[in-house]
Amino acid sequence: MAVSVGNGGGAELERIEIDLLLEGIFRHYGIDFRGYALGSLKRRLARRMREEGAATLSAFQDKVLHDPAAMERLLVSLSISVTGMFRDPTFYRAFREKVVPLLRTYPFIRLWNAGCATGEETFSLAILLEEAGLLERTRIYATDFNAGVVEHARAGEFPLARMKAYTENYLQAGGTKEFSRYYTADGGAARFSPALLENVVFAKHNLVSDGSFNEFQAILCRNVLIYFGRTLQERVHTLFHDSLVNFGVLGLGHKETIRFTPLEHCYEPIDAREKLYRRVA
Ligand SMILES: C[S@@+](CC[C@H](N)C(=O)[O-])C[C@H]1O[C@@H](n2cnc3c(N)ncnc32)[C@H](O)[C@@H]1O
Repeated sequence: MAVSVGNGGGAELERIEIDLLLEGIFRHYGIDFRGYALGSLKRRLARRMREEGAATLSAFQDKVLHDPAAMERLLVSLSISVTGMFRDPTFYRAFREKVVPLLRTYPFIRLWNAGCATGEETFSLAILLEEAGLLERTRIYATDFNAGVVEHARAGEFPLARMKAYTENYLQAGGTKEFSRYYTADGGAARFSPALLENVVFAKHNLVSDGSFNEFQAILCRNVLIYFGRTLQERVHTLFHDSLVNFGVLGLGHKETIRFTPLEHCYEPIDAREKLYRRVA
């Protein structure tokens, strides 16, 4: 179903207004949403417009450009930071069984967790690597363009109510320990052991506008590219390719793929179903 965020002037006018809004945001705030996939962008814009009480895209643009707080709310909405611990457990199981042996061959491992959201994925990786005996010689760089979620991730606190589901995910992902050994309950929060973060660097990084900042043995970027248009996806794949060592590992989300991109020939699958690839060229 098409969601109309415009003022009734038809699809072409709506597209013009969205382009103008995104251009204005880029020029005024330096945040670039111009290459994001239109479908989910329109749904999010429509919701924010309703909540900000803006009847037209032009009125919404006026508000966002003149009110940084409205821009912040839009940023939060467009970030879509839905995540979870050991999300898609079969991915982690494949990572444990097929990627860990590859990583073991390196004396020191740098892993980039791009689009880490509130950190559940980062903690899952730290736990997995700890159990594999690799955490000590790994540095995880966990990045997101939304400063608020990065801050949240650093705190290492997640709702206690979600621990039952996360424990199930952990077990399905091949975990064999008591999951509760990794956190302490504090009111409604599960506070994860700070020891897991000893080798984790959280930082703000925008995949659209920031460049490479290191060379990695593995890059995981799951459920982020799905929100980008094709051109932007290709740009980010170039960034990842430039940032991976030869034979380095790329992990994507279940709905994402390196296939049908210009860099497809540079990778071979480690586990095609789980979207785990190895750079070979
Ligand atoms: C749906 S979450 C995915 C979180 C986690 N990777 C997972 O799979 O559970 C998408 C994340 O991508 C981040 N993101 C969106 N655009 C980004 C960009 N241009 N640069 C960096 N992160 C971005 C959002 O802020 C959000 O935290």
